[in-house]
Amino acid sequence: MQTVTETQALRAAVRGWRAAGQTVGLVPTMGNLHEGHFALLKLARARCDRVVASVFVNPTQFGPGEDYERYPRTLVRDQSGLADHACDLLFAPGVEVMYPFGTDDAVRVQVPRLTDTLEGAHRPGHFDGMATVVCKLFNMVQPDVAVFGQKDFQQWRVIERFVRDLGIPVAVLAAPIVREADGLAMSSRNQYLSPDERQQATAIHRTLLWMRDAQHEGRAREEIEHEAMERLRAAGLDPDYAAIRRSIDLAEPAEDDDEPRVALIAARLGATRLIDNLVLD
Ligand code: PAF
Repeated sequence: MQTVTETQALRAAVRGWRAAGQTVGLVPTMGNLHEGHFALLKLARARCDRVVASVFVNPTQFGPGEDYERYPRTLVRDQSGLADHACDLLFAPGVEVMYPFGTDDAVRVQVPRLTDTLEGAHRPGHFDGMATVVCKLFNMVQPDVAVFGQKDFQQWRVIERFVRDLGIPVAVLAAPIVREADGLAMSSRNQYLSPDERQQATAIHRTLLWMRDAQHEGRAREEIEHEAMERLRAAGLDPDYAAIRRSIDLAEPAEDDDEPRVALIAARLGATRLIDNLVLD
């Protein structure tokens, strides 16, 4: 596996593959890779002849007081994990490569409405930064396929939306959430948890399963959301939301709306904020 940090070297490699008629898949990451990321790689590998992974902790998607500084940076370990999972090329740029005019003066990609709610409401500016960097990566790599984790459900929907609206020729795929044996969704942020918090965190998946069962029993959406918040608090978490939304656009479903739904939770445990979701239908 080749590692490159500059756009020119990245483009030269991709050009060579394209000249040989090969397809290219991209797995964008912020590093600190775990089995959840390797599942994305596996999906890209199944769809494409070549796979590029990027590792870049993107400053513009972190808000003030969030964990940009302490986000775990483990490039050497990531390199060997990627090589073991049949990655062809690792793109690991610095901030100056991704933001040649600096982060304050960068052109931004903004997706209205879809980013006003849930994560967008609780992390202002997060999706602008995320969409901007993903759009840049699409331009730099020009992949046929890009794979993201379904754990970041709203992120996946935001990416699908700007790809379609901007006419970017890439197929966006979401890979299923990879969970620990006790149901906790794998995340780089799980390592911030103390042993007690790690135990409490299992309430997130339990609550999602309860929300699914409650919906199947025909209980009203608002009632389920309210009780889910109570259940999370009772387990020692501080929830930002526990919501049931239309899976397609994350809008609040009307009672007679039979679009598929998804349950989504964001909750804090001490200084750590975790998200998870479960497709209900
Ligand atoms: O999901 C992530 O790890 C990040 O949001 C992404 C897509 C790599 C953009 O920085």
